[in-house]
Amino acid sequence: MTAAVARQAAVLATNTRYLHDHLARYIERLTAKLPPPLSVVYLVNSGSEANDLALRLARRFTGRESMIAVDGAYHGHLTSLIAISPYKFNGRGGRGCPSGTYVVPMPDTYQGAFRADDPEAGPKYARSVAEAAARAEADGRPAAGFIAESILSCGGQIVLPPGFLREAYRSVRAAGGVCIADEVQVGFGRTGSAFWAFETQGVVPDIVTMGKPIGNGFPLAAVVTTREIAGAFADGMEYFNTYGGNPVACAAGLAVLDVLESEGLQEKARATGEHLLAGLRRLAGAHPVIGDVRGLGLFLGFELVLDRAARTRAPLQAAYIAERMREEGVLVSTDGPFRNVIKIKPPLAFGPADADLFLNALERILSEDPLRI
Ligand SMILES: Cc1ncc(COP(=O)(O)O)c(C=O)c1O
Repeated sequence: MTAAVARQAAVLATNTRYLHDHLARYIERLTAKLPPPLSVVYLVNSGSEANDLALRLARRFTGRESMIAVDGAYHGHLTSLIAISPYKFNGRGGRGCPSGTYVVPMPDTYQGAFRADDPEAGPKYARSVAEAAARAEADGRPAAGFIAESILSCGGQIVLPPGFLREAYRSVRAAGGVCIADEVQVGFGRTGSAFWAFETQGVVPDIVTMGKPIGNGFPLAAVVTTREIAGAFADGMEYFNTYGGNPVACAAGLAVLDVLESEGLQEKARATGEHLLAGLRRLAGAHPVIGDVRGLGLFLGFELVLDRAARTRAPLQAAYIAERMREEGVLVSTDGPFRNVIKIKPPLAFGPADADLFLNALERILSEDPLRI
């Protein structure tokens, strides 16, 4: 990718007033990865820009303003996104939930109201989305849409229970809103079994936002939507984005897709992820401080508890393990509203030998008995 970026930067790095082959080729390659009717692409420069544009699309299409968001979510740093990010507005320095944002509980089958042993947990959690849509309507500010990550990241590496998005999308659409999948963290094959994490829920969103891995560190991000929604947005007010989709960014995007495909990184994420999950489950068997192990592909996490039966959260132990891992040369961090979940999202080049290094370091630290601190 570095070579592709350097080559293009040396030739031409204009703004997007002028069509470039790389742009057309990149959009063809990207849309080929998406199910119909997701066929219109806007290229932007960050995940935040992508989500802000997704909000504009949803609002223009529906003529509505309110949004439904999932508790614990972070969707970006722009003003418009802090307003739909409970992680921020309910976090330190936050000013609480703004009017026009309706928050639904995380479908957390480890700590939430419906647990992993309930096969209907997904649809049961989705009822809160239908209720939020009804509340918005009753307040006289019906929802423009529902935004959710397809696996919750800041919420604590939470895999959505089966049927959650299917039922949530159904009720949002029935109420006249659109459904936005934030794939900024979980897209591009990381989940192993699917290229897009929304596919693991058997749904097709109306708008998908992408970022982070799309440019492997180069500032590139995207919004993909339907012709119908894009058509409503094309109302005469031109959408212009100086750097979005510039030829250098497109060269980066093309090179990322080439590497993902030629090195089979999605399959590698699946296989290494399974190896890691099996290792983490083995460690959980021996160390009661690990209450839950979860995730898909190379998007994993484990939740630390003081007491397995009561599932009492153990943020101090999580911080201790993260710090000790750093001393062992492995970088991990904590997440979830109580910071008691350790998240594991390595680069997709991560292989079985790296996974073993990780597991061995973790095993050493767990044998120090973090529960005694
Ligand atoms: C799920 C999610 N959406 C959106 C964003 C915003 O992306 P960016 O930092 O590129 O603006 C982030 C960033 O952490 C994110 O995790």
